[in-house]
Amino acid sequence: MCGIAGFVGAGDSLRQAVASLKRLEYRGYDSAGVAYSTGDELRIARCPGKVADLEALIAALPAASGPAIAHTRWATHGRPSEANAHPHGDCTGQLAVVHNGIIENHQAIRQTLLSAGHRIQSETDTEVISHLIEDELVGRRGASGLVEAVRAATQRLHGSFAVAVLWSGAPDVIVAARRDSPLIVGLGDAGAFVASDVPALVGWADRLSALQDGDVALVRGRSVTIWDADGKEREASMMPLTMSREAAEKQGFAHFMLKEIHEQPRAVKETCRGRIGSDGEVALEGLGDAVLELLRSGNVHFVACGTAYHAALIGKRLWDQALRRHADCTVSSEFRYDRPLIDDRTLVVLVSQSGETADTVAAARYARQLGARTLAVVNCMGTSLERETDAALITRAGPEIGVASTKAYSAQVAAMGLLAGQAGWADAGQALSALPDAIEKVLDNEAAIKAIASDLATSNCFFFLGRGHDAAVAAEAALKLKEISYIHAEAYPAGEMKHGPLALVEPGVAVVGLCTRPSTHDKIASNLMEVRARDGRVVTVVSDGLPIPEAATDVIVVPSVSEYMSPIVTMVAMQLLAYYVALARGCSIDQPRNLAKSVTVE
Ligand code: AGP
Repeated sequence: MCGIAGFVGAGDSLRQAVASLKRLEYRGYDSAGVAYSTGDELRIARCPGKVADLEALIAALPAASGPAIAHTRWATHGRPSEANAHPHGDCTGQLAVVHNGIIENHQAIRQTLLSAGHRIQSETDTEVISHLIEDELVGRRGASGLVEAVRAATQRLHGSFAVAVLWSGAPDVIVAARRDSPLIVGLGDAGAFVASDVPALVGWADRLSALQDGDVALVRGRSVTIWDADGKEREASMMPLTMSREAAEKQGFAHFMLKEIHEQPRAVKETCRGRIGSDGEVALEGLGDAVLELLRSGNVHFVACGTAYHAALIGKRLWDQALRRHADCTVSSEFRYDRPLIDDRTLVVLVSQSGETADTVAAARYARQLGARTLAVVNCMGTSLERETDAALITRAGPEIGVASTKAYSAQVAAMGLLAGQAGWADAGQALSALPDAIEKVLDNEAAIKAIASDLATSNCFFFLGRGHDAAVAAEAALKLKEISYIHAEAYPAGEMKHGPLALVEPGVAVVGLCTRPSTHDKIASNLMEVRARDGRVVTVVSDGLPIPEAATDVIVVPSVSEYMSPIVTMVAMQLLAYYVALARGCSIDQPRNLAKSVTVE
């Protein structure tokens, strides 16, 4: 996710756009920039780092009276750098574009533009938009010409975009367009705004309207004109802006964690975007031949910590069960002090949301010393882990603010599916494409899960039981509950309960049975009967279509999806369960005690 903010109106538009941008740093913050019009020319200021660094960069600049557009980046194509920071210009220096989204056909467009003589400066997908608009502006004039050029250019794009554009040929307007990435326009006493999200407008605009897919908007100092996907002018239908700033940053959710739980359909969809062909085949770019070859025929060893480790366990299962190839999976802090069987035929896959976890970064260095090739699966670009590995697969969950990882887990498991697909798992494309809708269905069941959680909040101990892939999910479900509700929770292979832990079952102990696997459904059902017979509370998570275990006191039905990707669907339900148990116990959900978002020490 990136943040876009633009302003045109009275006062210093340069600083207004950057002040609005600062409200969007939760959307991304590895580089920032601003383009502004001084009437007779267009200028761009941009830098790696946070919006504060951009504010320092422009501190000595005079006020700008013309329109300004600003951008804070969450890199997906091209490392964080000044050259890759937005806004991006064209060959004439008369145009500036900021963009949020992913242009899937950017490589093909780049080649066409280069062959036509365009000079492309950055590694980004975004810059091709600037040069396409440049071409479409030939023979066009003024604000209406810019609207036509933006429409024509964006119609050639595959993928998602929210763009805002400045042009010297129309020095008093901003033109904006969107497809599959959010973009809103706002009006206030001082002027008109364009932004990725509401927080950028709070305190300055008093009414707003969300652009729809295919819309192109012309934003002047006192007015917004919108043309729909068919090019017909439509009513802007402005709504009053009444939200507080804090509520706006959480998009109305009570906590960042709940917002991020609800962002999972998009996190999975964006992680897969442009990586699954129309034929359903996975095609990952930029991994390099050596990594691709080891994915297809080498030994694979997954390494990670915490939630990322639980996601990596799904990668191991895909290798063992779907690809029928051996794979190992080790916690980073164990891997780096062990003598793992690693050689030059091994690909070590290191999974990390932050890319800064000390144990995982050190494990990457150790793997290379042992002669392995290394691949990072990471949510943040430009991190230590990326610098220590041969290649990186970027999960596109966007910044994850809540300490308890949710959307990053889903994106990581989806990335495991993509890697397995690249390695030969034939069902990858179909399995991954079904996930966003399946996740939405679980989210639709939130109220029922909340009711179950409220009942369970007084439990003094939880067991999460599963078999097969559900045993790996049980580990993540137990972690989620522990880290935000502070209730002790254990994950156990369901068949192991009778070998000891059953002694702990008594009233007040809650047992959650994950029953999504048809092949062992009746086995776990009888394991749960052993618990129920000892007055344990039994909650079952069952795939749609499978029978409800007799022992269940509460049932959560989840959509039936590919067995290997069902951890994502089951975990959305378990994240909601953990969230509402913690909420009922009055815990600090986004910043749980004793924990940090990234553990950069051993
Ligand atoms: C997950 O909810 C925790 N916050 C923690 O286990 C986390 O997954 C672990 O520290 C690994 O972090 P990373 O993915 O940034 O490497």
